[in-house]
Parts: sequence; structure tokens; C-alpha cells
Amino acid sequence: MQLPENAKGTFWETHDPLVALAPMAGVTDSPFRRICKHYGAPLVWSEFVSVRGLHHNWAKSSALLEYTQEEYPVVMQIFGDEPEYMADAAEKIEQAFSPAGIDINCGCPAKKVMKTGAGVALMEHPKLVSEIINAISERISVPLSLKTRAGIRDTDVYEFAMQLPLDKLSGLTIHGRTYEEKFTGDINLELLRRVKEQAPCRVVANGGIATLDDMHRIREATGIDGFMVGAAALGRPWIFRELTNNTPHEPSPMELKETILLHATYMSEFYGEERGILNFRKHLLWYLKGFPGAKELRKRLASIRTVDALQETLELFLPAE
Ligand SMILES: Cc1cc2nc3c(=O)[nH]c(=O)nc-3n(C[C@H](O)[C@H](O)[C@H](O)COP(=O)(O)O)c2cc1C
Repeated sequence: MQLPENAKGTFWETHDPLVALAPMAGVTDSPFRRICKHYGAPLVWSEFVSVRGLHHNWAKSSALLEYTQEEYPVVMQIFGDEPEYMADAAEKIEQAFSPAGIDINCGCPAKKVMKTGAGVALMEHPKLVSEIINAISERISVPLSLKTRAGIRDTDVYEFAMQLPLDKLSGLTIHGRTYEEKFTGDINLELLRRVKEQAPCRVVANGGIATLDDMHRIREATGIDGFMVGAAALGRPWIFRELTNNTPHEPSPMELKETILLHATYMSEFYGEERGILNFRKHLLWYLKGFPGAKELRKRLASIRTVDALQETLELFLPAE
């Protein structure tokens, strides 16, 4: 793939604040990253991929890492718990995909990930995480980063992070909720502030960031370097325009329709039309949440198989102004 000039490297330093699309398995595929890029997302994460999966079946697992040039810079996230396997995977990914960076997952609370010792379970093993960071950083030339949580059981992110070779990381993203809190509740600003104060790398806040007010409030309380947005981008990719232009953005029905069709077209290009439109349904529900007539529209959309049919139906409900 032909990458843009000066593509490698410095996004961690050049963006202030750094605004990024969070990795979300099953959601932040290539088409979703493209639509977020269309709305100016400076940086996007891939869904996480299993290092074991890559080791045993490279072709199948690495398919999740395919991307189009428009999405660049893309950071690719891996999960696992064995330093050498992780370093091998990172090196292979760099060679095969030229990502803008490699990110280590230390935050996933899913049972099937934790029971292998990976994800947020790693927070209780800072020595092992240090070995993982050291091993990977020796094998790749793109920036290395790590994404974690506010804590798990008796370990908090300050205690965890201060035991890591943070000078080998370009960035540290903290989802400011604990393992126990999962995906709800306020993020812990005090912990974010303390880590930011001491960390030699850039520190990014994540968790519940949905508005410009959230961004300003968190920045003020923590001095943080960046913001990573997950749930708030679902059906609202224009949030990246808001956050990067520092101006609220409410799309007209016309723009909403165009955005839906553009995203559906990306889906169709990436997966083929039938599978693309099928996979697109969950996004449609997010786009149409709270929209007048959404119930009737959803009913009709259930039988839609093509982008053209989607367009015809949307014309009825979201007419041109
Ligand atoms: C469906 C889903 C899948 C996710 N997959 C990942 C993942 O692959 N890697 C990761 O680090 N975090 C993952 N997360 C966590 C998000 O990146 C983010 O940390 C979390 O949703 C909190 O941010 P938010 O409140 O802005 O959504 C996932 C979250 C959701 C909802």
C-alpha cells in the first residue's frame, strides 16, 4: 500500500489534543473507520486481534486489520500475554500492514480474554507487561502504545503505570473506569490527573466522552493530552468534527441520509453488498435512534438487501429539504 508522505511516526506529538476513535471489536471495522475519517477523526484504532489467533491462523485473524488508505493513520491493537509471541505478532503486523502504531490491550474485561491472562487481567502483572513492552519495542519501528483501565480489584492505574517502562511508549490511553465498573459511570479524573502528571509519554482519556463540554471539563481537571471516543461515535461519526473544530455539529436530515448512504456504500465495498448491508443494520439503528418515524423505518429496513433499496426507503423518511 502506498502510504501518505511522512505517514509514519509523529501523530502522538503533533495533535493537541489528540482525538481518536476507540477500538471496538465488531464495530470499528474498515467502513466505520472510513466514515469517522470522513468526519475528520485524526486517528483511528483497529479492533483488537488475538496474538494466539494470528499465530495459529494468520490469514483469518489478520483479515481484521485490512484497511484503506483513507483511514490512515490506523493504530492496530493486539491482545495476548506472552512477550515473545506478542513481539512476533507486532513485527509481522508492521511488515504486513504498515500501521501507524501498535497498541497493547490491557483493558478488556471479557471473560474469554481474561481467562487467557490477557486484557485487563494484565494490570495485576506489571512485571509481565514490562516484559511485553520491552520485547515489542525492540522489534518494531512504529510507535508503541498501551490501553488500560482505571484499575482492577486492589490495583489502580497509577500504581500499575508507574511500574512500567513508560519511556518506551508513545502513548497511554486510560479508560477511566475500573474492571468492576465495566462500561458505565463517571471516569476517575483524579487518577487520570496523577498519571498524566508523572508519565513521560502522552496520556489519553477514554470513557463516556460525548460532547465538547466533556472534552473541556476533562482537559481542565487532568491536563490530559488527548481523548478517545467509543460509544458516542456510534451513529454519530460527526462527533469527530465537533471535537476537532471545537464547534457543535447537528446534521440536517439530508446530511444524515447522505452519511448513512456513504457508510452503507463503504460496507458494501468492503464486505460485498449482501453481507455489507446485513452487517450495516446495527449501525442503522444507531443512526436512527430517537429519529421521528424511526420505528416504521426500522420495520421497512429489515427487508433491505441493497444500497439502492436503502436509498429509496430513506428518501421516503428523510426527504430533501
Ligand atoms: C462493543 C465494544 C467493543 C470493544 N472492543 C474493544 C477492543 O477491541 N479493544 C479495546 O481496547 N477496547 C475495546 N472496547 C472498549 C472501548 O475501546 C472503550 O474503552 C470503552 O467503550 C469506553 O469508552 P466509551 O465510553 O467512549 O465507549 C470495546 C467497547 C465496546 C462497547
